[in-house]
Amino acid sequence: MVVSGATGAVGQNLVPAILRSEDFTLVGAIGRRGLGRDVALVLGLGEPIGVTVAANLEEALGGREADVLIDFSVAPVAAVICRAAVEAGIAVVLGTTAVDPGAIEEIGRTALERGVGVFLAPNLTIAGQLMIRCAELTRPYFGDVEIVEAHPPTKRDAPSGTAQETARRINATPGPANTEDQTERGLPQARGAVLGDVRIHSLRLPSFYSRHEVFFARPGEMLTIICDQFSTEAVVGPTLKATRLILGERGVVRELPGLFDPD
Ligand SMILES: NC(=O)c1ccc[n+]([C@@H]2O[C@H](COP(=O)([O-])OP(=O)(O)OC[C@H]3O[C@@H](n4cnc5c(N)ncnc54)[C@H](OP(=O)(O)O)[C@@H]3O)[C@@H](O)[C@H]2O)c1
Repeated sequence: MVVSGATGAVGQNLVPAILRSEDFTLVGAIGRRGLGRDVALVLGLGEPIGVTVAANLEEALGGREADVLIDFSVAPVAAVICRAAVEAGIAVVLGTTAVDPGAIEEIGRTALERGVGVFLAPNLTIAGQLMIRCAELTRPYFGDVEIVEAHPPTKRDAPSGTAQETARRINATPGPANTEDQTERGLPQARGAVLGDVRIHSLRLPSFYSRHEVFFARPGEMLTIICDQFSTEAVVGPTLKATRLILGERGVVRELPGLFDPD
């Protein structure tokens, strides 16, 4: 497999997990820091492994073959690298958020033509998935829902991919109508971004890693679902499991059956 974003926060946890595993082989690493240097040395993992940090997929492969690309990079870079992967017949687990929907559509078409799968995965954590499922369970009882998400100021997209996916799944679940918002004056941005029936508010503050709060309200009561991640560790297990499951898919998929089932 090839990891794009190998030198990033997620990549730094993924690469050692792949190297430790007996089932997976790291064929290539894409990043920006330490270009041309052995990825194990760049990440401070000890001995060199013969995989250097490359700027693009072709360089990363260096003539070798790979079956899956895992991408946790940054949206515009991810679109270019994922397109190159599907064109080369390589399946993709796309963890990077906020990739342009038009680019995804085009990548999906090519993936279908080449007979490979692309897993669109804005949240690859067990807690995040359970939060989304709880929100789906709750939605039929509650018309009013708002999401608050908090991340550090280094995060490049807002609202988070997880918040958007949660809103998408809530909107896809039938429920009562929401209460009419009667705000007339002030700063309209204060009421957040509107996605269907869901408002999303993004905090960007140092010291947060990743927090999502989903507030469901009805007259006289409220249910709040809170999900915290404290590091990228939680992403590793589901991501590696997804690299197996995506091999059985074609085109863009948003779900991989069994991915988040307990082991
Ligand atoms: N799906 C999920 O569950 C999940 C979980 C966490 C994060 N994410 C998403 O995954 C993505 C990465 O998150 P992260 O926290 O790991 O971010 P990060 O620490 O900023 O890492 C980004 C990676 O992309 C590389 N990169 C940035 N600009 C580049 C460029 N112009 N050319 C080539 N490589 C470039 C960085 O290289 P250098 O470090 O060498 O500069 C780094 O390896 C984000 O979109 C985030 O929202 C998704």
